[in-house]
Amino acid sequence: MIYLDYAATTPLDARVLEAMMPALVADGLQANAASSHAPGFRARAAVERARAQVAELLGAEASEIIFTSGATESNNLAIKGVLEFRGLRQAHVVTSRIEHKCVLDTCRYLETQGARVTYLKPGADGAITPEQVLDALTPDTALVSLMWVNNEIGVRNDIERLAPLLRERGVLLHVDAAQASGRIDINLKQTPVDLLSVSAHKAYGPKGIGALFVRRKPRARLAPQMHGGGHEQGMRSGTLATHQIVGMGAAFEILRREGAAEAERIAALRERFWQGLQGLDRIHRNGAGPSAPHVLNVSFEGVEGESLRASLADLAVSSGSACSSATAEPSYVLRALGRDDELANASLRFSFGRFTTAGEVDAAAERVCLQVKRLRSISALWN
Ligand SMILES: Cc1ncc(COP(=O)(O)O)c(C=O)c1O
Repeated sequence: MIYLDYAATTPLDARVLEAMMPALVADGLQANAASSHAPGFRARAAVERARAQVAELLGAEASEIIFTSGATESNNLAIKGVLEFRGLRQAHVVTSRIEHKCVLDTCRYLETQGARVTYLKPGADGAITPEQVLDALTPDTALVSLMWVNNEIGVRNDIERLAPLLRERGVLLHVDAAQASGRIDINLKQTPVDLLSVSAHKAYGPKGIGALFVRRKPRARLAPQMHGGGHEQGMRSGTLATHQIVGMGAAFEILRREGAAEAERIAALRERFWQGLQGLDRIHRNGAGPSAPHVLNVSFEGVEGESLRASLADLAVSSGSACSSATAEPSYVLRALGRDDELANASLRFSFGRFTTAGEVDAAAERVCLQVKRLRSISALWN
């Protein structure tokens, strides 16, 4: 089995596992980080170290990092939290049609509560331009929520240019950076994003842990969505998952040191794979805009989506996003880019990462070429 689904999740790095182990066992960091005794203080120190490691990768202050259970929760907290704080009834949100479901469904929920939402359509290149966002603003716009890197096509939005434009206009900007952190350069000291969501399991850390960056100056104000003991500055109650948090810190620390070189290596593997597919005609690379290094989304003319996936059972790849592949509907992201149902269905997302080798890339490309040619030879869709 060749694993080319790093955008869905990444394996834990062995160094991260090693960092996490002491937080799981007796005489380690097993105490509650909120407890006022020596073991509790040790656990707290480990949490704060991890908070600083996460902040460092993003160019943030440690006090701006709120730990959550992952990017889904961070996105919910950011979007619902801002709107609830501002007052739902009058509020307007600007987002895009190709956000992750956890943003889209949160927006749809808020619409049932009286909010208004504008869903921007990306260009054929897969990006939303800052001008599109500015055109959509109204005097009631409380929040813009836009992803930095799209999970299905890897295309990046120009958040560096958008953020100062929104700051000038006094509109809050939330960015879903689940696919971006560690893969592209993020410096929140230079880019005035107000809220930013990240997840550890997209970055060689454990599943079930993520964070929301909440800017302090100027302060982004939110209503908490989880009430309880007042953890995480009152924004996210619940006993801190020390082992997960330590793992996320270690994963982000590794990315801070190795991310830039790794991104170059992964981008080269992706291009090598794309070159390997060039023996096939009538294939289309989805999302021509500037992109993060790890995702390649390809539509194959003249094959049926279901047969294509079945023929590649020894490759772990994704048809659209993993979260929505249970629905067997053509990807809403590819549809928004203008692909018709048939072509959207005959599309695969290949995503590459830390443990991908050139040998795997070559073998996978060869396998895809072979199967697409075979399916076309027996397909009524191909002439
Ligand atoms: C862009 C994007 N946002 C949010 C999420 C959700 O992240 P998590 O699995 O940490 O809840 C994902 C992962 O599927 C993603 O790719």
